[in-house]
Order: sequence, then structure tokens, then C-alpha cells
Amino acid sequence: MIIPSIRSESIIYAVRDVTLIAENAAKRGKKLYYLNIGDPNQYDFDTPEHLKSAVIEALKVNHHNGYSHSSGIQVAREAIRREAEERKKIRNIQEIFITTGASEAIEICIAALCNAGDNVLCPTPGYPLYSAVLGKYNIEYRPYYLVEEEEWAPSAEEISKLIDKNTKAIVLINPNNPTGALYSIPTLEKLVEMALRNNIVVLSDEIYDKLLMDNLKHTSIAGLSSELPCVTFGGISKNYLAPGWRIGWGVVSGPHEKTKLYVEAINKFLRARLCANHPMQFAIPAALDGDHSFLKDVIQRLQKRRDLSIQKLSAIPGISVVKPTGAFYSFPKLQIEGEDEDWVKGLIQSTGVVVVHGSGFGEREGTKHFRFVFLPDEETLNLAFELIEQYQRLWLSGKRDFSNE
Ligand SMILES: Cc1ncc(COP(=O)(O)O)c(C=O)c1O
Repeated sequence: MIIPSIRSESIIYAVRDVTLIAENAAKRGKKLYYLNIGDPNQYDFDTPEHLKSAVIEALKVNHHNGYSHSSGIQVAREAIRREAEERKKIRNIQEIFITTGASEAIEICIAALCNAGDNVLCPTPGYPLYSAVLGKYNIEYRPYYLVEEEEWAPSAEEISKLIDKNTKAIVLINPNNPTGALYSIPTLEKLVEMALRNNIVVLSDEIYDKLLMDNLKHTSIAGLSSELPCVTFGGISKNYLAPGWRIGWGVVSGPHEKTKLYVEAINKFLRARLCANHPMQFAIPAALDGDHSFLKDVIQRLQKRRDLSIQKLSAIPGISVVKPTGAFYSFPKLQIEGEDEDWVKGLIQSTGVVVVHGSGFGEREGTKHFRFVFLPDEETLNLAFELIEQYQRLWLSGKRDFSNE
């Protein structure tokens, strides 16, 4: 018997865990409605052609099929710099590096910053990669709760109270997964002030920063202060509909004196893993400098699907929802007896509608939620919400066991 590490026990990834329940339901003949996958390409969204052509052309050059520089190819890093300076208004850029998805940038930046026993403030609910990475390095995941009554905004006052001498960083996810909330400038300014006062690094995950509805504009926290030590994460997975290509990046900004050792440490990790996928990196300049007209259509579709979802859900008893304005997720509240995990399990077993339980993203004690994606087409969404409504009526009437349906 091979005994796995204790470390592996701390890894929980609810987004993928529900697929096991769904697979069992499918084996029993249930038709599945996937409202759980944060991958646009599983639905009717395609990677833009100009990105595909750039990668195909890159593959034809033999040299591009070898390793690249550990930090990534120069043309792509330049494109990322232009975007960071011109659109995100980030000054004081100290380093730019390309990774295997934003996921790898996030892991490297945490590993290069924290020792075992340190803690990192994480948005809760939030994307479960952070708790998985922190668990892997014995770093404490210290949750700060997003405020549902304030459209899921973080509260700098509340966050300040959580900081101690072992706090190294605060994670921001803007727009957020799973709430779909976009943060206002005043909210971000308070966080800048709080981070500077407490001498902590800001890790700003902006992987959804172009998927914004209602004509809203994104503000990067790093752009608000050149004094703030910050790493801003981005990538092509979501904004450019290419999650399978596994290309992301990090931009380190802030005063040189404060960040120089940290940048060196990040580079050591980058060198140790050689490089990100070389030919795929050619998609970056094509994406950032290229035609963005595809986004208009993507956002139009998302907004329509979001509006439909909010309207249908709000009409279901025991469900209320804050309207998301970014990304493609929503995190409705359940006013129910019982746990949200059981509610989701029963929903999948009895209707085939797959969503993820709120506890999988972390939530304030005593509250219950679920996360769904509004990427599916209107027909699928209409069917799914009809099924959720029927199921919710059964749950509210006291039925709890759906294992044989
Ligand atoms: C908030 C957030 N950050 C990072 C990622 C992962 O990004 P990548 O595909 O670039 O690794 C995701 C994926 O769902 C996400 O939701």
C-alpha cells in the first residue's frame, strides 16, 4: 500500500468534486445540464481565429518548439507591459513573467513570498486554488468575508482586524469568482491604504477583467498607487476564451527597493520549471494587441444570459441573488433548512442540473449558497431554472432524500 502525503488531505476542489456525483447521475440515465464549468469553450464560445493563427504560425518555426526564456518570450512580455501601463495604468513595473495559466503565476508568487506558518488573507467566498496552494505549503488560509449586503464588496475595516505579524499578503479577485462582483475605486483605495499601512503585498487576480457587463470599467488596484507592492495576474483563459492553452502571467509593481528580493525569488522558481508552453505564448501579442471586436458579442451574450438567470432565479422561493457585473458566475443565497452541499447533491441526483455548493468556495457561517455559470445558451438555462424551481419546492416541503431518483 502506498500511503499518500498528509499534505494531499488538505486539497479540496469542489468545482471538480461535483462532477463525480454528476457522473453517477448520468450512469443512472439522467440528462445533465452543466451550470458548473467555468470554461467558455465547453459552451458556444470559440477562441478567436487570430489567436489560433498566431499559434499555428509559431509552430512552423522550429526554434519556437524548443524551450523559451523562463520569464517568457520578449514580444509577449512587451505586449503585457503595454497593456499594464496603458490600460491598467500600472506604473513602477518591476517584472513581467509568463506562466502555465495564471494558476502557476499564483502558486509561484505565494511560494516565493511565504514561509510555513505565515498567513495570507483570502476573499471568501473565493476561488479554491488559493486554499489548495496555501495548504500545499503549510501557509494559513485566513478568510476575509466578502459582504453580500454590499454587493459582495470586501471591507478594508474588517480585513485590518485580521492582520498580524505573520500576514504576508492579501488576495483580491476582481472581478470575483464565484460572486461575479466588480470592485469600485473607493473600495480599492481603502484596500491600498490598508495594505500600505500594514506592509503587506497585494496579489490581484484580474483574470476576468475584460468580461464586464452594464458598460462598467475595470480598475486595477496596482494602478492606484506606485508605492504598493503588488502582483497583478492575468491570462488568456477567460478574456480570450482559451483556457486549454494554459497561458497566464504576472506583473510585479511597486518600489524597486521593496520588491527587488521578491522579484529575484520569483525568478528562481520560474527558472526551476524551465518555461511556459513556448508556441502558445505567441497568442499573447495577438490577443492583447489584436482585434477585440469578438468581445462585444461575448459580452452581449453573457449579459443576456445573466439577465435571464437573475430574473428566473429571483422568482424561486427561498432563493435571492446579488446581480453579478463581471465574469460569468453568480452566487445566489439559499434560505433553506439543511446544508447547501446536500441541497446541491440532491439537485444533481434528481434533476441532472449541476451547480457547485457555496461551502466549496467558503462562506460566512450559517449562510448557504450555490454557484452557477451563465455560460449555457438560453434554452439550457430556461430548462435548468425550471428544474431548480421544481426541486426547491420539494426541498422546502421537507423532502431530503433524492438518492434514488
Ligand atoms: C479567479 C481565478 N483565477 C485563476 C483561474 C485559473 O486561471 P488559468 O486558467 O489562467 O490558470 C481561475 C479559473 O477558473 C479563476 O477563476
